[in-house]
Amino acid sequence: MATGSNTVRIAVLPGDGIGTEVSDATLAVLEPLARRHGIGLATETLPAGAFHYQATGEGFPEASFQAAKAADAILLGAMGWPGIRQADGTEIAPQLDLRVRLGLYAGVRPVRAIPGVPVALADPRARGIDLVLVRESTEGLFHSRGTGLVTEDLAEETLRITRATTEKLSHFSFRLAERRAARRGRKGRVTLVDKANVFRAFAFMRGVFDGVATQYPGVDSGHHYVDAMALDLVRRPWAWDVLPTENMFGDILSDLGAGLVGGMGFSPSADIGDEHAVFQPAHGTAPDIAGQGVANPTAMLLSAAMMLDWLAARGAGERFAEAAGELDAAVDAAFGAGLRTADIGGRDGTAAVVAALRGRLGG
Ligand SMILES: NC(=O)c1ccc[n+]([C@@H]2O[C@H](COP(=O)([O-])OP(=O)(O)OC[C@H]3O[C@@H](n4cnc5c(N)ncnc54)[C@H](O)[C@@H]3O)[C@@H](O)[C@H]2O)c1
Repeated sequence: MATGSNTVRIAVLPGDGIGTEVSDATLAVLEPLARRHGIGLATETLPAGAFHYQATGEGFPEASFQAAKAADAILLGAMGWPGIRQADGTEIAPQLDLRVRLGLYAGVRPVRAIPGVPVALADPRARGIDLVLVRESTEGLFHSRGTGLVTEDLAEETLRITRATTEKLSHFSFRLAERRAARRGRKGRVTLVDKANVFRAFAFMRGVFDGVATQYPGVDSGHHYVDAMALDLVRRPWAWDVLPTENMFGDILSDLGAGLVGGMGFSPSADIGDEHAVFQPAHGTAPDIAGQGVANPTAMLLSAAMMLDWLAARGAGERFAEAAGELDAAVDAAFGAGLRTADIGGRDGTAAVVAALRGRLGG
C-alpha cells in the first residue's frame, strides 16, 4: 500500500447514468470527511462503461484497468445501458471483468436497517436487521459466463465450486463474523447458504466450509438451504449474521435483502480479494431516473465507508477506520433526523443528501 504519508490512491470508475451522479456525490462527501480526519484520498477518475464503448468500441480500456489495479482501492459507480450492446447481444460489464481479473472472490453485501428508512416488514424486530451476505463472485454458476454451450436445441452453463476459493470465502466469512461480533459485543454466527441436499457440488462446498469452521471455535457455524433462506430472509431476517453463498444464490438473495431495508439506493457492496477490492453500490445505472438529480447516493456513500474500513484493516491507519465509522454514523443520523430520498417516497434529491452529510461533517 502506497501509504506512509497517510495518503491512499483511489481509482474512481463513475461509469454510466446515475453511476456518475452518485460518484460525484460521494466524492463531495468524502472531501470534508478526509479533511476532518487528516487522511489523504488521492482520486483518479478513469473512463469505462457503456457510453465509452459506444464512443470508442472499448467498454473497459486496458489503461483504465491497469490504473485501477495499481491503485490502493477502486470506487465504482455503475456501468451498462440497456440500449448499448455488444455483437453477441450482451451488455458490457467491466464490473464483472474486475471481479475475475483481480480475483475478487468475496462479494460483501450488508443488509442493515437504517434509522428512519422504511423497512419492508411490519414486525418491530425488522428495525434490527443487520446481516451480511458474502457472495462468492468468481465461480459458481457464473463460471462459464460468456462461454456456455448453445446449440439449436439446448443451452448449457457449468457451475464450478473449488476447494481453494471455498476455503478463502469461508475464512473471510469467519473473520468478518469475528470483527462484527467484537463491534457489537455478541457472539458471531456464520451460516453457509447452499443446496447440498440435491447437488454434489454443494455437498462438497459444505464439507470444505465445515473444515474451515473448526478453526473458529469462537464463532457459531451452520448451514441453510437456499430455498429455505429465501423464506427466512422474509420471515425472520433479524435472526442472521454472516451468510456466505454461491455466486448466483448471492446475486438473487442480495436483491431480496436490499428490498427489505429500503431498496437498491441503500445497498452498498464490496468485492474483495487477497490484494484488491472494488467498492460500489449494488444498484445499476437506473436509466429511468438518470439525469434528473433524484438518484439516492446512500448506497455508494456506505460503500465508500466500507472502503475506508478495508483500507484501515490493510494498514492505512486507524484514522481511516474512524472516518468510516463517522460516515456510517452521519448517514444514520441524517435519515434518522428526517432526510427522505425519492426512492422512499421523499422529496430529497442527490444534492440534498450531499448537503445534509456535508453539513454533519463540517463541509
Ligand atoms: N454493478 C453495476 O454496474 C450494475 C448492476 C446492475 C445493473 N447494471 C446495469 O444498469 C442498467 C440498468 O439496470 P436495471 O434497471 O436492471 O437496475 P437498476 O439498479 O439500475 O435500477 C432498478 C430500479 O431501481 C431504481 N434505482 C436504482 N438505484 C437507485 C438509486 N441509487 N436511487 C434511486 N433509485 C434507484 C431505478 O430507478 C430502477 O427503477 C443496465 O444496463 C444494467 O446492466 C449495472
